[in-house]
Amino acid sequence: MSDQGLADERIQTDRLLLQRPAEADIDTILSVHRDPETCRYNPSDALTRLDEAAALYQRWDAQWQHHGYGYWVVRRHNSPQQLGFCGIKPMDLHGTKTLNLFYRFTPAAWGHGFATEAATAVSAWAAQNASHLPLIARIRPANIASQRVAIRVGLTRASHLDTTGYDGLDWIYAANLAV
Ligand SMILES: CC(C)(COP(=O)(O)OP(=O)(O)OC[C@H]1O[C@@H](n2cnc3c(N)ncnc32)[C@H](O)[C@@H]1OP(=O)(O)O)[C@@H](O)C(=O)NCCC(=O)NCCS
Repeated sequence: MSDQGLADERIQTDRLLLQRPAEADIDTILSVHRDPETCRYNPSDALTRLDEAAALYQRWDAQWQHHGYGYWVVRRHNSPQQLGFCGIKPMDLHGTKTLNLFYRFTPAAWGHGFATEAATAVSAWAAQNASHLPLIARIRPANIASQRVAIRVGLTRASHLDTTGYDGLDWIYAANLAV
């Protein structure tokens, strides 16, 4: 159970409802991650089978249980259709504890500002509830849309922190990181 309380398992924005994922969202985890477009820059994240999606859900849920926050599943207030995911995960960057900001939406939902709206809400949540952990995003150099979202939520390019991830060079965007 989240030590932040149930309220933080739901975040509302003008257009969106962010909720802690449930088992019923495993189908959406699969559909979003098996679309070749959504993992174009991060092919190591791609999924092809339901059991892989179920395993990913279990990892996300374990993080929620352990830390009281994680990834939220995102939909519009007026629709049951899940659009994608946005959230934070603790990670070590060059020996510093940070929160990695994540977002991945189904292509049909791109271009409406949903990713920016969700990531802004998650960033605000992190600033309020985990301000001791700098927020970062690791983004592949060619992933312009993701870089735009990171900049929109207030992260800035920190090229001295760039790192190599599963899919190659990751550019780092960061806030409040004095490394
Ligand atoms: C990254 C992602 C979530 C952005 O979704 P989106 O719906 O396009 O985001 P928004 O509508 O909020 O737009 C964000 C910005 O990106 C820009 N953008 C969107 N697609 C773009 C593209 N293909 N090329 C350049 N810019 C693009 C938008 O114009 C907007 O810019 P602005 O802030 O200057 O107005 C979406 O592309 C996605 O899910 N990609 C696959 C997963 C992924 O790569 N996640 C990030 C891993 S680091």
